Amino acid sequence: MCGIVAYIGPKDAAPILLEGLQRLEYRGYDSAGVVVSNKGLKLRKVKGRVADLAKVVPARFKGGLGIGHTRWATHGVPSDENAHPHLSADQRIAVVHNGIIENAGELRAKLEADGVEFLSETDTEVLAHLIAHAVDENDSLEEAVRKTLKSIVGTYGIAVIDAERPGEVVVARNGSPIVVGIGEKEMFAASDVAALVRYTRQVVHLEDGELAVLKADGFHTFASDARETAKEPLTVDWDAGHYDTGGYEHYLLKEISEQPETMTRTMSGRLDERFHVAHLGGLNMDARETRGFRRVKIIGCGSAYYSGQIGAQLIEELARIPADAEPASEFRYRNPVVDPDTLYVAISQSGETYDTLAAVQELKRKGGRVIGIVNAVGSAIAREVDGGIYLHAGPEVSVASTKAFTSTSVAFALLALHLGRVRDLSPADGRRIVEGLRRLPGQIEQILEQGEAIAELAKKYADHPSMMFVGRVRGYPVAREGAQKLKEISYVHAEAYPASELKHGPLALIGPEMPTVAIVPDDELLDKNLTTLGEIRARGGRVLMVGHREPDAKLADDVIVIPKNEIELDPILLTIPLQLLAYHAAVALGRDVDKPRNLAKSVTVE
Ligand code: AGP
Repeated sequence: MCGIVAYIGPKDAAPILLEGLQRLEYRGYDSAGVVVSNKGLKLRKVKGRVADLAKVVPARFKGGLGIGHTRWATHGVPSDENAHPHLSADQRIAVVHNGIIENAGELRAKLEADGVEFLSETDTEVLAHLIAHAVDENDSLEEAVRKTLKSIVGTYGIAVIDAERPGEVVVARNGSPIVVGIGEKEMFAASDVAALVRYTRQVVHLEDGELAVLKADGFHTFASDARETAKEPLTVDWDAGHYDTGGYEHYLLKEISEQPETMTRTMSGRLDERFHVAHLGGLNMDARETRGFRRVKIIGCGSAYYSGQIGAQLIEELARIPADAEPASEFRYRNPVVDPDTLYVAISQSGETYDTLAAVQELKRKGGRVIGIVNAVGSAIAREVDGGIYLHAGPEVSVASTKAFTSTSVAFALLALHLGRVRDLSPADGRRIVEGLRRLPGQIEQILEQGEAIAELAKKYADHPSMMFVGRVRGYPVAREGAQKLKEISYVHAEAYPASELKHGPLALIGPEMPTVAIVPDDELLDKNLTTLGEIRARGGRVLMVGHREPDAKLADDVIVIPKNEIELDPILLTIPLQLLAYHAAVALGRDVDKPRNLAKSVTVE
């Protein structure tokens, strides 16, 4: 949610900032801006994309210190004025900010009473004015920023420069990520490593409450009480190539197509053919502890939550431990009962989703044992949890989650196998699951080969204003994720229901104008699902069935047949055609596939 880049060093900052912002655009894209320091601050900012900003940055925009921002509006509409950076009235201080300042209204009123004129509607502008006041009374920019942040209620990741101190940039974090990048006689900072990997792989993640002062030859980090903190740099294993479209028309198609490899990486080194178990050393739990859990509670947001529902089903089936998933955004607000015998699992691709992070912090505060299933190494949630499973799916750039969703489901299969095999899951069933997992990448290749046929179906269905997605038990989270994908990238309204619930209400919606995508795996519920198809067809509803075999022609207008795996693992494969369906529907409707309107990749605000 919004992107920040900062640079200090011997090179011109502007091209580095623009390139970094381009890589962060998936986090926010309604306006963008840069400021460089060179005998005063030079600012350019526009409503629109980073490409629009690049057009208004002149070739002679020189200066080796600068900060940039790409915005996803929270306070104030997208406009040139509301775009970041924001400057103090005397044009001395420039600030870029991610997050939300909750007491901005009150602070703004006080500043206005003191005669400050605001140029924007943003909460961020108060920071620029407050820091400008504080810098007059303090010896250092660092101290001025620290003092200002003490008066702030809310979340922030910020970068600040002072025209009168051209040798430093100050960055700080509270609830919104900031990563420092260490170069050769040059330093970088960003809200995401994506902006840094072209220049350096050595990074340091700031913790909440930390502040860092960056100079060209090094950096210092400080806790909120100004005590200096010691930080070990981390080497990022993603490189700039991971952030290219790799010849695909969209990141989304690239990421869908990568799933055979990403899934293989999630499993790599973790499957044991001898004992038919999964090795998950990152959980930091011995067998006795692992056996002790009596419940599993899974939390995550959006698609992460739906993959958690697949996970809960896997854990109940394979480990026979009661398990359920809940949106982290709800969980954190309902004063949850935290039970010492429950294993809590937080899921997040980015590792920065604020609601999930806050839920983890609430759980930890109450003494809960929390593990994470996270893609971004070293991210806030990964650092907060007691242990976990990294997905190793590589960076996911497109706003809609695809490869992280399936890798999370695979990680849950590994966790369920692990929990099951220290309990009552038999070696034979363990072997069945291990072998099933090994078959997944090849089976995904087979589904991807149907891309063109699915594109034709997508064209056929895309012009309907609304679509229903139904599935039963294992198929229900698949239906929810399918509807989510279609909604977010094609803007076609989609509802997901358990197939069993149709006749309790939503059947009233069914008719020729509202087709149904039905998830119909070849499992013990096949006949019940086929009966549901009959009910839909009897009301004149069109049916696109996704399953393992052609049904009676009367029951479906169209069918996508996919390879069969073990019943517990089938949901992972059933997801893939729905990703392709949503992708091709979005393309057919001319949508901005990778950057759908109103959405951002990492939701780092409440
Ligand atoms: C997925 O397509 C969505 N863009 C969204 O629901 C996402 O999964 C959710 O915001 C959680 O993100 P996270 O995995 O980074 O925490």
